[in-house]
Amino acid sequence: MDKPEGHAPSILIVDDIPANLSLLSGLLKDQGYKVRPAPSGPLALQAAQHDQPDLILLDIHMPGMDGFEVCRRLKSDPALADIPILFISALSETSDKLRAFSEGGQDYITKPFQVDEVLARVRTHLELRRARLELEQKNRVLSEALDQLKTAQSHLILSEKMAALGVLAAGVAHEINNPVNFVKTSCHGLEKDFEDMISVLALVRSSLSGDGLAGLEVHERKIDYATMLREVPELFFNVFEGLLRVEEVVKSLRTFARTDDALSCGIDLHEVVDAVLVMLRSRYEKHIQVDKAYGKLPTIRGNIGKLSQVLINLLTNAIDAVEAAAVPSRQRITVATEMRRRDEKDYAVLHISDTGAGIPQEFLHRIFDPFFTTKPVGKGTGLGLFICANLIKEHQGFLEVASPVGQGTTFSIFLPAGQEDPC
Ligand SMILES: Nc1ncnc2c1ncn2[C@@H]1O[C@H](COP(=O)(O)OP(=O)(O)OP(=O)(O)O)[C@@H](O)[C@H]1O
Ligand SMILES: [Mg+2]
Repeated sequence: MDKPEGHAPSILIVDDIPANLSLLSGLLKDQGYKVRPAPSGPLALQAAQHDQPDLILLDIHMPGMDGFEVCRRLKSDPALADIPILFISALSETSDKLRAFSEGGQDYITKPFQVDEVLARVRTHLELRRARLELEQKNRVLSEALDQLKTAQSHLILSEKMAALGVLAAGVAHEINNPVNFVKTSCHGLEKDFEDMISVLALVRSSLSGDGLAGLEVHERKIDYATMLREVPELFFNVFEGLLRVEEVVKSLRTFARTDDALSCGIDLHEVVDAVLVMLRSRYEKHIQVDKAYGKLPTIRGNIGKLSQVLINLLTNAIDAVEAAAVPSRQRITVATEMRRRDEKDYAVLHISDTGAGIPQEFLHRIFDPFFTTKPVGKGTGLGLFICANLIKEHQGFLEVASPVGQGTTFSIFLPAGQEDPC
């Protein structure tokens, strides 16, 4: 008969009769197995917990705790439940055998036993266990590989998506900037020309008298000249306001379109938030009130493009949540900042709070998983928070979420901002 190779399998033998214990121990030791005898149920449980055996040979009829009870307790312990149990008993009734299997035993041998039969069954069960453990290990490796593949895939999707968006944003910013500049220059010229024209008209008016002046006044009334004089500066003001907004959007697009990967110093987090709020304005300004509560923050080390991306994702989620809650009076998003100390480190912290319905407790641990979404197909990919968590990790920071039932959600971004962070 072949001796077990490599690491000798260990077998726990449980029997209250010393003669049986030493007979079985001797037999199995001769085969090269590591054998531990246990003369009672409680001692067997202790031995199994202390050092898990590969197989247990278990007598049924024992004083105090019988074999069935030992088996039940082993099977109810998740750490020990997988160890195969081979009952060896003088009880030969079919009902005893059936009970042994129903308690979780893998096999049953009746005493007096045939040595070869015991050895053959021991070998089979050890082999089965080895094969099962190997399979489990392979499954683990496979599922880890699958997770890695999923992560790699989502990173790829993300970088493709962001690169494409970055190029698009840079292009749009450039294309808008040129016409905006010449509209602005022309408007300034127009304003100046208009002022000159008014002064010419005033001069002409002052030189008129009699019928000439009367005719002019009739015409002025006809075209409501007084109102026009009042309105034109307001109209110019509106045009310049509009242009200012376009410039803000272009500036935000440029900020967002930065494609470099590096972290740089001197970043004003409030400026980044403001730029992102401008970019998202069309998504919230009509129906959601956005409040800012900025604290005093030092500049930080970071990547504006990546931080913008995080803010866009978190604010978009907040807007979606508030819209889904659909209670007009509660439509509010607050962006607050403050310094906080955590684990003896200083952080610049940015909280984004919304008045949406919140995140159900059972989803909280899954929201950062790639592809986890509760949004309809086509609306959410479930990558937003996964990406945010990764980008913040690249900044040596972390994200926290609080979503007390019925009180909306707050995501908090912690970014290192202490003396110890080099810049
Ligand atoms: N502010 C929030 N309020 C309520 N639920 C939220 C909030 N933010 C995230 N969630 C939940 O977390 C899920 C995952 O968010 P995540 O941003 O990762 O993906 P998504 O928004 O569904 O899709 P996308 O990839 O387009 O961002 C959401 O589907 C939603 O269920
Ligand atoms: Mg999202």
